Amino acid sequence: MTETQEVKFSDAAMAEIQRYISHYPEGRQKSALLPVLHIAQAEFGGWVSPEVMDKVAEILQIQPIEVYEVATFYTMFNLKPVGKHVLEVCRTGPCCLRGADEMIEMLKQKLNIEEGETTADGMFTLKPVECLASCGTGPMLQVREVYYENLDSEQRVDEFLQMMRSKEHEIPTWAK
Ligand code: FES
Repeated sequence: MTETQEVKFSDAAMAEIQRYISHYPEGRQKSALLPVLHIAQAEFGGWVSPEVMDKVAEILQIQPIEVYEVATFYTMFNLKPVGKHVLEVCRTGPCCLRGADEMIEMLKQKLNIEEGETTADGMFTLKPVECLASCGTGPMLQVREVYYENLDSEQRVDEFLQMMRSKEHEIPTWAK
């Protein structure tokens, strides 16, 4: 979405947003902020621009800053355009003890990007995150709601990337 485009949710997305808002008492619609941000991210290409966050604030009848402070706190929200697959790589201590640094370095070299960047073909974004609660199977990463674990060798990293490039994984990361 470009900055000049109007932020307009689809009818289906608006219906879903209203369903979440209806879970809360009158005047407490801010409580639906997290799911509404998830809907917004899915609706607008996998990231939430300031314009999208402003629209969310308007829908929930809250101040834009209240949306910004939540969207910038949680790593699951992307604040700039991302690739088709967002590789959320765990870089917290236990995974580091099991080789997370090496896994991240391999991914950087093989994808020719740094942390936070997207590959030239728009396929992958490399995004370091904190503990994903799968410490015993590190080094690991998450793509959408799926965990990929024990990526502790070049062969496993290669197999993972090959699988993500295959037809079975054509659904964009940000798609519902
Ligand atoms: S430290 Fe990586 S999942 Fe917990």
